[in-house]
Amino acid sequence: MKGTSFFLLSLILIVFYSCGSSKTIRSGEIWTDTDQNTINAHGGGILYHNGTYYWYGEYKNDSTYHAPGVEWDCYRTEAGGVACYSSKNLQSWKFEGIVLKPDMTDPTSDIHPSMVIERPKVIYNDKTKKFVMWMHIDNYNYSKAAAGVAISDSPTGNFQYLHSLRPGGEESRDMTLFKDEDGKAYHIYSTKGNSTLFFHLLSDDYLTHTGIYRAAFSGKYREAPAIFKRQNKYYLITSGCSGWDPNEAEYAIADSILGEWKTMGNPCIGENANKSFGGQSTFAISVDPKKDKYIIMFDRWNKLDLIDSRYIWLPINFHPEGISIEWKPEWSFKK
Ligand code: DGJ
Repeated sequence: MKGTSFFLLSLILIVFYSCGSSKTIRSGEIWTDTDQNTINAHGGGILYHNGTYYWYGEYKNDSTYHAPGVEWDCYRTEAGGVACYSSKNLQSWKFEGIVLKPDMTDPTSDIHPSMVIERPKVIYNDKTKKFVMWMHIDNYNYSKAAAGVAISDSPTGNFQYLHSLRPGGEESRDMTLFKDEDGKAYHIYSTKGNSTLFFHLLSDDYLTHTGIYRAAFSGKYREAPAIFKRQNKYYLITSGCSGWDPNEAEYAIADSILGEWKTMGNPCIGENANKSFGGQSTFAISVDPKKDKYIIMFDRWNKLDLIDSRYIWLPINFHPEGISIEWKPEWSFKK
């Protein structure tokens, strides 16, 4: 009898684990959370903290319209704040709520629904024990071009919005954050009419800019920065500037964040590579650097119905000459 029970238990475990490992990433499809609701976290970024992944992103409202009086392709939704989802495995996501809530009452607030809250990213400050969120804050026609900052004691909020600013008086639009192994953190943002990208060292508490920065890709009009570190080299993936429409990605490598950035070309290969598979970079996840497991997150924007924008997550491949990203309709972390 004991042998039969052991056999049955083994069978159950094998079935359980093989089902678990067969969960796949299907880019471009509707992704749902553990409550079966559509995940609403666009232009997002991931924080890994104490064994849990937290995915922060723009919480889009169901209200896409063309901003009145704006000549360019300025589709927008009312800003819904920043959503957070948590996961142990990057596949099954629990909705933690809107962790930075919009200010519904004050029309002059940066986070009023009439404003733009985009590309939120969160890092943890080991010294202050605060979770620090930076985000792109703009007005309806994107002329404010500022960076907003919020803090929280917990990764799941509530985040307290502090203020917005233009770092060193310069514009700041598409952005990301990077916390290095030495605890130094950088705000990376498109500036000067999106023509240039700044890598700006943040203060020790991550709440202000130090004035120490590197300007890169001047005149190249790069946005949507996603950065990661591998074997002491830094990699940056960006998009060109074409509003919500996809364009060709480009990547660059540097030995130090504030050093020279060497442009390497389009990392995407295969069909639709010149349009980044219909997506635009937002964040690179360092899943297991020792095993070269990195994921690039793209948004596939639906400019006429922004809440229906989808997610494209693909593994980054490493070669002696650089990196490549190829489309995979379905893949698993285990492979
Ligand atoms: C391109 C940016 O990458 C997006 O985050 C958003 O700001 C759109 N432009 C708005 O057109």
